[in-house]
Amino acid sequence: MSLPEKIAQRRAFAIIAHPDAGKTTMTEKLLLYGGAIHLAGHVRAKKDRKSTRSDWMSMEQERGISISTAAMQFEYNGFVMNLLDTPGHQDFSEDTYRTLMAVDSAVMLLDGSRGVEPQTIKLFHICRERGIPIFTFINKMDMPAKNPFELIDEVEKVLGISAVPLTWPMGSGKDFRGFYDLEKDEVHLFEKSEKGGAYAAPESVSGLHDPRLSEIMDEYTYNFFMEGVEIAKEVLPPFDREKFLNGEQTPVLFGSAITNFGVAHMLHRFIELAPPPGEILLNNGKSIHPESSDFSAFVFKLQANMNKQHRDRVAFVRITSGTFERGMTVKVPRLNKEVKLTSPVSFFGQERSTIDIAVAGDIIGLINPGIYRIGDILTTGEIPDFRPLPRFAPDIFSRIVLTDTSRQKHYRKGIQELAEEGVVQVFNVSDQNPIVGAVGQLQFEVFQFRLEDEYGVPVRLEPLGFEASRWIKKEDVEKVGRFDKIVHDDAGNPVILFETQYRLNSFMANNPDVELREHPP
Ligand code: G4P
Repeated sequence: MSLPEKIAQRRAFAIIAHPDAGKTTMTEKLLLYGGAIHLAGHVRAKKDRKSTRSDWMSMEQERGISISTAAMQFEYNGFVMNLLDTPGHQDFSEDTYRTLMAVDSAVMLLDGSRGVEPQTIKLFHICRERGIPIFTFINKMDMPAKNPFELIDEVEKVLGISAVPLTWPMGSGKDFRGFYDLEKDEVHLFEKSEKGGAYAAPESVSGLHDPRLSEIMDEYTYNFFMEGVEIAKEVLPPFDREKFLNGEQTPVLFGSAITNFGVAHMLHRFIELAPPPGEILLNNGKSIHPESSDFSAFVFKLQANMNKQHRDRVAFVRITSGTFERGMTVKVPRLNKEVKLTSPVSFFGQERSTIDIAVAGDIIGLINPGIYRIGDILTTGEIPDFRPLPRFAPDIFSRIVLTDTSRQKHYRKGIQELAEEGVVQVFNVSDQNPIVGAVGQLQFEVFQFRLEDEYGVPVRLEPLGFEASRWIKKEDVEKVGRFDKIVHDDAGNPVILFETQYRLNSFMANNPDVELREHPP
């Protein structure tokens, strides 16, 4: 198969959702359909969801929230799907942001009874800013849901994107019977499968005039459905793939991940409509073509101790052009060094397998003996001038206190590795009690938990009374007054910590010549 043919079969995407909308469940089902797991994790209790391959971190399992990102690859109908798992929790927005830089499209999952929720809005805007196409799946239709028109309207009004249903649900909750494909003029009837069943839900396909329809729905549901279809056909604009690809329109499908209903249909339509890897515009006005003979890629995520038995660090890399071959040598411009890529792996969460070949659009994991940093570029040709991966100015801070002084060496290692991953940002790193900064409290909890769990290092985090931070130039340090604290990031750049947002504002007003940055230079 030629390189362009292989690339045309790649889809790199993420599922974005407010916590609890069903992202874990949907991920399980996609992996199930892709043959990556044989039994859906949902048949087990949530706290023991061993087969949810993305949910590998014990803290995540305990808390039942997805807080770290993993990449999973599965095949479906000859397509190679690279699914990146984004943390839904707002405290991990920086991690999410970086992950979304590595995908070509996203599936936005909504809970049919809740519609658009706060975290959906944030994640949607990140995707929009990146200009990636967004596919919408309205989940949990087996539970009482809002009226489909209301849901469509909410997507349009709250998110400001034209929403075009490709399917129309037949009832919801206990009256949910299936959906009608508006384009193909097909009715898909839902034959209830065991909740959380391991196989594609049995369904039968027929037309709108199937006499069974009025039998399986009560009169009210039937009339409501038929009217809805009629109005949807007449009033709503037709689906336009160009508009979808430009981020102006989102196709909407309805279903129920937990009962497997509508998931296969979504996957088919998604593969058909979502874009394969495309041209990437660079900062300097040039662009990268995925089919280029030069290999290029960037590191968007580092993860330590993914598997406690391996005790290694993995750098997740998005390939942006060309072909990767195991053992190839690439330039890493930041290090001004050539590196041989000897042990590339792909993941189903905890399980990894060695890969020999990968192409643009794929995500690979590189075992990282401390060489890579987030944002690193790997290339065999010209150095691509990618948009930098974002880093946010923290607004909560704590001092780390080691409570078992015999763990000094592990303490240093743990802090360094977790900071490199971006779990927290660390300031004054060589002090006995470095300062950690985060954008959300949960980041601190994860940091503390992982230090203990993975490095055997118990620490106490003492909250510091600062509410904002900004990077400044070295020459401006002397202009900072005694009320504001200066610390240094891991690269030695000075950062001011402000006690209040008000202090930050007044500093800005009093020092118009000092450039305050929300990210490192
Ligand atoms: P998240 O990753 O987006 O946070 O959501 P997750 O998949 O964990 O799902 C959140 C809850 O919603 C889970 O219930 C899950 O079973 C349920 N759920 C997901 N999809 C559907 C669906 O299509 N229909 C219905 N009715 N429920 C769905 P839980 O009670 O929190 O967990 P569990 O005890 O069922 O494991």
